[in-house]
Amino acid sequence: MNTPIGILDSGIGGLSVLTEINSVLPEEKIIYFGDTANLPYGNKTPAQIQKFVFDILKFFKQKKVKAVVMACNTSSALVLDKARPCFDFPIIGVIEPAVREALKVIRTSQVALFANAATIESGVYDKIMKKYSDNKISVVGKACPYFVSFVESGIFSGAEVDRVVKRYLSAFDNVNADTLILGCTHYPFLEPAIKKADAGRFKLINPAHATALELADILKDKNLENRSGLTPDYKFYVTAQPEKFTETASQLLNKKIDQAYLINPRFSLQEA
Ligand code: DGL
Repeated sequence: MNTPIGILDSGIGGLSVLTEINSVLPEEKIIYFGDTANLPYGNKTPAQIQKFVFDILKFFKQKKVKAVVMACNTSSALVLDKARPCFDFPIIGVIEPAVREALKVIRTSQVALFANAATIESGVYDKIMKKYSDNKISVVGKACPYFVSFVESGIFSGAEVDRVVKRYLSAFDNVNADTLILGCTHYPFLEPAIKKADAGRFKLINPAHATALELADILKDKNLENRSGLTPDYKFYVTAQPEKFTETASQLLNKKIDQAYLINPRFSLQEA
């Protein structure tokens, strides 16, 4: 089926998931939505996040997507279960794939989680980890608000990044964990800085690859794969600052993005 896959995130971070989807499913068309006007989701209420995400899903519906990936951990934590029965396309979240991936390598009774405040407060990572580990493993979360600002500004390394990474990691000094889940799409872009600072203590889990594999399975099961043989195109939509998005996205994807369309999903559902 030659219709697109929708990927949503609060901003540019979801490109960490798009990259994996591109490598697992290079023939698929993609519409990427970064809700940059409402970023960060981390300090919004569950009701606000639900409203933002439903608007994006309605936009995707108009675009006739065949599946949606909620790349955003916050949306996966707070909106996924409510959204699934309301739309007729499959919606894939990142938390279950992340937990399954983590369980392949964890040898401790706790697992560390970097995420934003909204995701941690939802308790969803802990709930799913307990479910899949028969209550043997619990999640210890640390909110990392500065990470999103760094990545959105195109800053991935340097003394300031190192200092903040160290401070956030120190939250796990007395925690019995050998694995750290990067529970926000933005954080994998800081993986080199995190690796440098943790000096080999943690196995780092980026949910993106396992999510892309789950999407591939679902497309196959439902017979939705693109077999048209046409070169797929990618379209980017943002709710604020399209130029800044194209600049940082080009840097992150190592490829020039010509345009991101500026859109307000609440008022411009007919756009492009
Ligand atoms: N990228 C989003 C996520 O994966 C969160 C960033 C934000 O707080 O907006 O949860």
